Amino acid sequence: MPDSILLTGGSGFIGSHIAVEVARAGHRPVVLDNLCNSKAGVIERLARIIGRPIDFVQGDIRDGAVVRKVIRDFGITRVIHLAGLKAVGESMSMPLAYYDNNVVGTLRLLEAMNDCGVRSIVFSSSCTVYGDPQRLPLTESHPLSSANPYGQTKLTIELMLRDLARSDDRWHICLLRYFNPVGAHESGLIGEDPNGIPNNLMPFVLKVAAGQFKELGVWGSDYPTPDGTGVRDYIHVVDLAVGHLRAMERLGDMRCEAINLGTGQGSSVLDVVKAFERVNAVRVPYTLKDRRPGDIAACWADPALALQRLGWKTERTLDDMCRDAWKWQLSSGGS
Ligand code: NAD
Ligand code: WQD
Repeated sequence: MPDSILLTGGSGFIGSHIAVEVARAGHRPVVLDNLCNSKAGVIERLARIIGRPIDFVQGDIRDGAVVRKVIRDFGITRVIHLAGLKAVGESMSMPLAYYDNNVVGTLRLLEAMNDCGVRSIVFSSSCTVYGDPQRLPLTESHPLSSANPYGQTKLTIELMLRDLARSDDRWHICLLRYFNPVGAHESGLIGEDPNGIPNNLMPFVLKVAAGQFKELGVWGSDYPTPDGTGVRDYIHVVDLAVGHLRAMERLGDMRCEAINLGTGQGSSVLDVVKAFERVNAVRVPYTLKDRRPGDIAACWADPALALQRLGWKTERTLDDMCRDAWKWQLSSGGS
């Protein structure tokens, strides 16, 4: 019997790639998404990749009745919880919307799961919970902090989940702390589709390469990094999706564990630009600008715990990320 896995936020960038891996592993992904940051067309494209229709319910995780109905109707046994708002800048101007959607939304989801006797969950946390790194690479024992409401919501949810696990040993919880997910499915059918002007590096690089923006602004060239530009641990979204599958499969052995999902390699902004130009034979004009407020100099993962606990490590390179992201941009125009 295939397991029915609830993917909250499953039509979004990361969730859609997880749906593919969950289905490929022989399970039945069930997507619950309110489409506040994704489009229903993703579900049809997922069906083309998977080769069969995919179960989709348009609904909000804050609506406990909807969540309970989905869990019961589809016989859900485990949950991968991705639904949330994720724009750091927006979270500073609308903190209450972030606490409501992310924290209250998770609370309502957990209540509904508990009522239905489903107590296994993989949660989308973020490397943002480490704040400004005191040492690199970042291990899971690094002190936690956050300088913005988005990060605070991730920290609050982690605390809530830890308290829950302490209160009742029937819960099995994995907190996956992602580094910088980029790239797209190799089919070119799904990928990242941000609304408006992208904030993040790879989506902006794509728009510049496609001629939709004249040039990339490189935010800071005087960081204490090899070329002066910011360094991050970019991870291919398909590797990230496979990491979720492994975490889901190992939930039975966990009470509440935090695990980094990253490559362990840092790349600078200019490393990304150069790899993108070389792999795709396109130009990405750029100008060096002042630092972006709130940015850190460098951040990359120690992924050893993921290998030890999940038997998982990344397989795809920065070149793969650049190639697959560009294929998605060309096939979709980014939408
Ligand atoms: P995304 O915006 O593409 O996907 C999130 C999905 O959740 C969207 O489809 C949106 O419509 C849905 N959603 C939001 N609020 C909802 C609600 N109340 N009810 C139902 N659906 C709701 O973002 P993503 O990049 O795929 O990120 C997925 C998760 O991973 C988020 O929780 C995000 O915070 C986390 N994360 C993302 C990154 C990143 O860089 N992309 C890094 C670390 C962690
Ligand atoms: C990467 C690098 C920029 C855009 C964000 C969130 C974090 C996490 C991952 C969710 C930095 C530089 C960027 C541009 C640039 N998300 N840059 N020009 O800031 O590491 O992290 O996404 O949990 O919480 O804050 O990612 O892609 O925005 O930036 O030079 O137009 O690219 O300064 O060095 P970041 P990013």
